[in-house]
Amino acid sequence: MAENNEARALALKVLGRIEKDSAFANLVLRTALDNSELDERDKALVTELVYGVTRMRRSCDFLIDRFISKKLHPDVRTILRLGTYQLHWMNIPDHAAVNGSVSLAPKWATGLCNAVLRKVAKETVEWPTKAIEYSYPDWIVERLESDLGEPEASAALKCMNSSKSATPREDGYFQDAASQLVSDLLTQEGNWGEGPVIDVCAAPGGKASAAVSAGFPVIAADASLKRLKLARSNSLELNIKLPLVVSDGTDLPFRKGEASRVIVDAPCSGLGVLRRRADARWRIKEADLAVLADLQLKLLCSALTMVKSGGLLIYSVCTLTNLETIGVDEKFRNLVNVEEIGDLPHPWRKHGRGGMILPQDLDSEGMSVFCYRAP
Ligand SMILES: C[S@@+](CC[C@H](N)C(=O)[O-])C[C@H]1O[C@@H](n2cnc3c(N)ncnc32)[C@H](O)[C@@H]1O
Repeated sequence: MAENNEARALALKVLGRIEKDSAFANLVLRTALDNSELDERDKALVTELVYGVTRMRRSCDFLIDRFISKKLHPDVRTILRLGTYQLHWMNIPDHAAVNGSVSLAPKWATGLCNAVLRKVAKETVEWPTKAIEYSYPDWIVERLESDLGEPEASAALKCMNSSKSATPREDGYFQDAASQLVSDLLTQEGNWGEGPVIDVCAAPGGKASAAVSAGFPVIAADASLKRLKLARSNSLELNIKLPLVVSDGTDLPFRKGEASRVIVDAPCSGLGVLRRRADARWRIKEADLAVLADLQLKLLCSALTMVKSGGLLIYSVCTLTNLETIGVDEKFRNLVNVEEIGDLPHPWRKHGRGGMILPQDLDSEGMSVFCYRAP
């Protein structure tokens, strides 16, 4: 219990930084854990608390605010969220969750924290909306329900409230199962001609390194030098040869029509990977979708010019919105003359003329993909 409270205290500190400085949850957490002397079990508890409270923030606030009549000090709110998360979503006895959280409160707030958490533990809850129950902004729930249908959207939203670590590939790289399926499409057998593989948005190198490991010569391009440095350290770790090029994918510096396979694993709203990025649901804005869809289409058109006649072009995004998937595909096909390769193998489910993996399908991340043969 004493160590566990050190874990709770560290989680509280990290949550405070995420809240006050809008810091990225994974970055603050990693630094805090690297600098702490907690054992592995307690580090796992800190991770679960930080990611859990960050994801379930809206639900926690609903449960808390039923018993509050005045504005809460931000630190007190964080303590209450921490306690509420343990009471509702973790298998921790009520008294340990309440006492462990109350003991982190400043003296002037212990009475309030104790009273509120005891009520949270005792009172049953009636959720007013699904967005509050599953802890998402309204627009994400509305958008996914309208794009995927209510049952699939609910299952996806629920699934993305639990953590899932990446799966090791044969070459030792840790990559999510759905991303591995995109890599399989990139390296699929077929008559795609000779020539290098170009990954237009390659960093940190997950799919590019998979193609190298499968025996292909690959050029990994990306607009971000900082992120390409991650691709470099990953390729060094895997001991593979992966040439890196900093370039804007809408204006690629390569000779046209020479690549046998090109992939655009485009920047996107990331609504398929919300389980991995605990704070992302609170950052992404609905207005971003149209901006991203425009960029995705530009990247795809530019990438097509790199593919030799008969070569393979893959468009993938780790999101589930129609605008960034079916919408981009339709606009692309209206602009250019490509052969779409539908009927993707199991476990891809049909999504427009491409494929989709929902998080609940493989207990993985969500991914969408479209494959084309260049004219
Ligand atoms: C989804 S990530 C790619 C993940 C990578 N393919 C993998 O499997 O590890 C999208 C990448 O697109 C890059 N990006 C964003 N805008 C870009 C642009 N205009 N041109 C090229 N890359 C861009 C980002 O820096 C980011 O690394």
